[in-house]
Amino acid sequence: MLIKSPKPSALKENQVTDEGIYQSRRTLLKSLGFIGASGLLAQTSTANAGLFDLFKKNPVKAFTVSPLKYQQAPLEISVTAQILTPEAKVTSHNNFYEFGAQKSQPAQLAQQFKVKPWQLTISGHCNNPLTLDYDDLFSSFELEERIYRLRCVEAWSMVIPWLGFSLTKLLQKAQPNSRAKYVVFETLYDPEQMPGQKNRRLGGGISYPYVEGLRIDEAMNPLTLMSVGLYGKTLPPQNGAPIRLVVPWKYGFKSIKSIVAIKFVEQQPANTWNTLIPNEYGFYANVNPTVDHPRWSQASERRITSGGLLARNRIKTQMFNGYGEEVAELYKGMDLSKYY
Ligand code: MTE
Repeated sequence: MLIKSPKPSALKENQVTDEGIYQSRRTLLKSLGFIGASGLLAQTSTANAGLFDLFKKNPVKAFTVSPLKYQQAPLEISVTAQILTPEAKVTSHNNFYEFGAQKSQPAQLAQQFKVKPWQLTISGHCNNPLTLDYDDLFSSFELEERIYRLRCVEAWSMVIPWLGFSLTKLLQKAQPNSRAKYVVFETLYDPEQMPGQKNRRLGGGISYPYVEGLRIDEAMNPLTLMSVGLYGKTLPPQNGAPIRLVVPWKYGFKSIKSIVAIKFVEQQPANTWNTLIPNEYGFYANVNPTVDHPRWSQASERRITSGGLLARNRIKTQMFNGYGEEVAELYKGMDLSKYY
């Protein structure tokens, strides 16, 4: 589904202002009428030059990202983009434990990651199991831009312009049957390429491959996105190339990266963080300011902006990360402190 009219939840992005670049890109776009994705990109990268200077410590990039053609987010939504997290921060402050447990490690250690060839298989309780190769990921569905808040369980957040398609479009292709109650996702397991899978300490003690799961109705919610890009280009490896999940009303650990397998199952699956520390991380992981993490409050979050660590950017966390209008119904009658 293309989200044409902005929901109220998508418009509450005025707490902080920081990234004018994307906004001016849109103003330019509006004044010129449509310009193609490549023209757009040229504008963006020129404008971003200053930002990149701020991040000179970034490693030399071996991985190349390519421009993508996509349906842009409606202008009304992109007005909110004035607070987008700068691209340089989105791609340098990451959680991707397969490439190290520290925020800066994925951008440094993932640059040689090979995304071609790639295979994503969809199997389990469905009538039409299928496999997509690398090119299929970009050509099977029209790509659209979705500007979503990403709220990490560690109480930081970003606003990111993703490119992708609704997961439901992909799942429908596979024709799940009545036994499909949950959907499981699995990240590539390749210790030769992913040093954190080889070295337990680097990989945060996780048993790989990283797995995640959603209830089938959560997976079929139109907000649930399969992302193949951000900021107009293919995903860099540290953000989950070539394809990842984005579930904007849940803590970021549900948004599993570099997916190779999706399976329809009958029972609630184990998920990586719940298996590792069950009393701290649940299966549902809905953003919820009223249910604290055992070791810290979830009532507020640090919005990552172009300011430094000392920037005054602590904001209140919203129930379901502000997407309640679209998803609260899914949890009617459930005790969300029990099903955290
Ligand atoms: N997926 C895999 N395979 N491995 C990971 O370590 N980290 C998760 C999620 N997906 C993770 C993952 C967490 S904790 C977060 S907050 C988000 O990715 C971060 O996404 P980003 O680095 O693109 O901001």
